[in-house]
Amino acid sequence: MQAKPCRESRVIKTNRVFPNDVNDHNTLFGGKLMSDIDMTASISATRHSRASVVTASTDSVAFLAPVSPSDSVCLESFVTWTGRSSMEVFVKVTAEDLRSGDRRIAATAFLTFVAIDDAGMPTPVPQVLPESDEELQLNKSGDERAETRRAHRRQSQKMAEYLTTSRPGDRSVGGDVGEQLVDTTTCALHDATSRRNVNASRLDRRESELRNFAGREDIASAHTAHGSLRTADG
Ligand SMILES: CC(C)(COP(=O)(O)OP(=O)(O)OC[C@H]1O[C@@H](n2cnc3c(N)ncnc32)[C@H](O)[C@@H]1OP(=O)(O)O)[C@@H](O)C(=O)NCCC(=O)NCCS
Repeated sequence: MQAKPCRESRVIKTNRVFPNDVNDHNTLFGGKLMSDIDMTASISATRHSRASVVTASTDSVAFLAPVSPSDSVCLESFVTWTGRSSMEVFVKVTAEDLRSGDRRIAATAFLTFVAIDDAGMPTPVPQVLPESDEELQLNKSGDERAETRRAHRRQSQKMAEYLTTSRPGDRSVGGDVGEQLVDTTTCALHDATSRRNVNASRLDRRESELRNFAGREDIASAHTAHGSLRTADG
């Protein structure tokens, strides 16, 4: 498969900021920008691979400067690095004050897409050929980011092993996250006293959820209650 220059996957899209795109600070809503970033990047990945692509990860989005309704927003994306079937796409977001003409980098992002065949399986993509200084620098640092992505994926897969898939309605309702965790622990306490056959691994999972929020006093005390529950139950 012949390598392709970055310019072949380059996408440039300029938008205005409309009133329904802003947050309560009257600047561009981050979620709107993220959606445009994903859209633009996916076109770059498809242009590079000429295959169907899926977003495997949004590796980073840095919001560097707010964008106001008097600005235009230019998104520029291209493939910076490739693996066997994966492509890293860089997106640069430039805001331009339409009255003064001043331009600034408003955001940068890296996303990873995977090319898939008709059976939905990852399929090889051409290598990328950087040409400009910007492309060369981004390509050169790509190996390091790929290694970080692999580590992050392993971490996410590990985390998925203990995350619950129960419906939120089956757990406590309302309050902030901390309160919900305390409530969850209270539910566990209730379960344990009313049902003698509480599964120990389920409690371990909840204990690890609590550990993730360690440092908060209310959680710490909930943790203590949880600990005594285990002792009582065990
Ligand atoms: C992305 C996906 C196709 C990978 O499939 P898989 O069976 O796990 O395939 P593999 O483990 O062989 O990985 C294939 C490639 O994807 C990369 N990859 C997989 N998950 C990744 C992740 N979370 N982040 C970055 N790269 C990832 C692998 O590194 C590998 O790259 P390489 O071929 O260049 O070496 C699959 O996880 C998937 O379909 N995810 C859901 C995608 C989705 O729904 N996106 C949102 C809507 S578009």
